[in-house]
Amino acid sequence: MAISLDSKDRLIFALDVQDKNEAQRLVKLLQNRVGCFKVGLELFVKEGPEILKLIKDYSPADIFLDLKLHDIPATVRGALKSAEKLGAKYITIHSTEGEAILETSKEVKDSSLEVLAVTFLTSLHQSQLCKLGFEQTTKLSDLVLDRALKAQQSGCAGIICSGEEIAKVKQKCGDDFKVIVPGIRPEWSKISADDQSRITTPRKAIQAGADLIVVGRPIRDANNPDEAAQKIVSEISNSARQ
Ligand code: C5P
Repeated sequence: MAISLDSKDRLIFALDVQDKNEAQRLVKLLQNRVGCFKVGLELFVKEGPEILKLIKDYSPADIFLDLKLHDIPATVRGALKSAEKLGAKYITIHSTEGEAILETSKEVKDSSLEVLAVTFLTSLHQSQLCKLGFEQTTKLSDLVLDRALKAQQSGCAGIICSGEEIAKVKQKCGDDFKVIVPGIRPEWSKISADDQSRITTPRKAIQAGADLIVVGRPIRDANNPDEAAQKIVSEISNSARQ
């Protein structure tokens, strides 16, 4: 890793909740426990930009606006310009459409907002590629790497990928290009009706070179979310030292 971070700062908690009351409860509980709160579509569509202010009122943690913007370049560019003023550290755009969209990241290059490209969702499995029109022999990890390289060349700060692709992307894109990994399932976590497919543990993700990991349900749905977050931070810490 290029930047040295505390173990806590490498944990992003996905605030996938219905409304600001539930968000406020979890932000207060985890305010100093995680490095970043991720606001996704569910919460942002319900509460709008005010939710970022609420998080800032209760926690010094960074904010990740996971809107996965996917539209024509002019629209994505406009959305990034609007997001620049909201005080988030990270925002996501889709990489499916190639360089034209990825290059919209240049729109906010002079601000503190870092644009991350979503490569392939962690809910997608290699076996589904054929149905999406890819050749049977195509490897998902190669597609992720191709999108990562395009994102890097287009000026994005990093990508979102699964644990399975971390090492390959780090090796080709280098330390300064951020690799952020969702689909994290600690060995002790039990998620009912899990939709994630390419999953890994905090230890494996950190050891493979992830800069930051995204954890939602294993913390949110734990009997004690604070304790769950602490366990993940210690796992990050123990893995980083090895
Ligand atoms: O609950 P869970 O740990 O699966 O949450 C993962 C979070 O990461 C969700 O908020 C999801 O939207 C997000 N995410 C993902 N896969 C991606 C990009 C983002 O799961 N490729």
